[in-house]
Amino acid sequence: MNDLTTVVDTARAAFEQAQTPAELENSKALFLGKSGRITELMKGLAALPVEEKKSRGAAINLVKQCVEAALNARRQALAERELQVQLQAEALDVTLPGRQRGMGGLHPVSLTLERIEAIFGSMGFEVAQGPEIESDWFNFTALNTPEDHPARSMHDTFYVEGGSEHAPNLLRTHTSPMQIRHAVQHVKKHRASVEGTVAEGVLFSGAMPEIRVIAPGRTYRVDSDATHSPMFHQCEGLWVGENVSFKDLKYVFTDFCRTFFENPDLVLRFRPSFFPFTEPSAEIDIQFPSGPLAGRWLEVAGSGQVHPNVIRNMGLDPERYIGFAFGMGPDRLTMLRYGVNDLRLFFDGDIRFLSQFR
Ligand code: PHE
Repeated sequence: MNDLTTVVDTARAAFEQAQTPAELENSKALFLGKSGRITELMKGLAALPVEEKKSRGAAINLVKQCVEAALNARRQALAERELQVQLQAEALDVTLPGRQRGMGGLHPVSLTLERIEAIFGSMGFEVAQGPEIESDWFNFTALNTPEDHPARSMHDTFYVEGGSEHAPNLLRTHTSPMQIRHAVQHVKKHRASVEGTVAEGVLFSGAMPEIRVIAPGRTYRVDSDATHSPMFHQCEGLWVGENVSFKDLKYVFTDFCRTFFENPDLVLRFRPSFFPFTEPSAEIDIQFPSGPLAGRWLEVAGSGQVHPNVIRNMGLDPERYIGFAFGMGPDRLTMLRYGVNDLRLFFDGDIRFLSQFR
């Protein structure tokens, strides 16, 4: 019997040594193949007497079963190992960050416009929108700037089809035309409600709710450097009533800027200037409070008391109505707020710049 136990042990050892299914099949042949050890043992039975044949035959069968069991166990172990190797090779790292779609966000200038609307909204100002292609009348003439006025040369712009030969339509050079457009609508609406029919050409001198409006939007000029762009933004402001003075302009605009920049100590400068549609007029400068340009002044608005001729073009009697207007540059407010030193960055569309404001 001893020789039989040895067969099982050697078979087990041989199978353990096999490292691949192919090697295992080779080892199998050594024991279970045509001329393998167990086949040889079976052949040896023929020479034995009947009695011995029976018991030895049963013993050899047992050995065969043991060897087959060892073979199957090793087959499974090797298959298992192969699977593990394959799984590892094809492993997905589920902790790897995915390729994300960038999160969208508002443009820094849009953020500024929203902020301007919120602050002036809290002071009782309406928000009005107007066309970017404007007529000569609203952009210039109604604003006390007749055809031959030298101030027009500072507002060179892009002229487009439409309008008349002497006064073609143009891309508006400022949001000031909205002063006229909005005031005319305001006055018309009020007169219709109190007078029924509105007499054309007669200035209104009755009582009326105040005009308080801002008009943000895109504007155009032939200009391009670090603080100018051919397309830029403006936000017009207009307050007309019976008792609105330059003092109110200073108060409203200073209060707006200090709220906008969250800085109660912000320094503003009202510098005497000239605009055909205001008298007196002032340009408003703000000092960069921090950043690389700290201490430097940046002009952020033109302003002044609305000229009587403009009040007339609004359909109002300048003996009763008076007010102030300003036109500020939201692009520049954005530069000041974030310490950006080149306005053109806002319009280059570089995502590395823009994504910083999300
Ligand atoms: N429209 C003027 C400009 O663009 C600014 C301004 C607006 C000045 C309102 C006075 C009053 O330069």
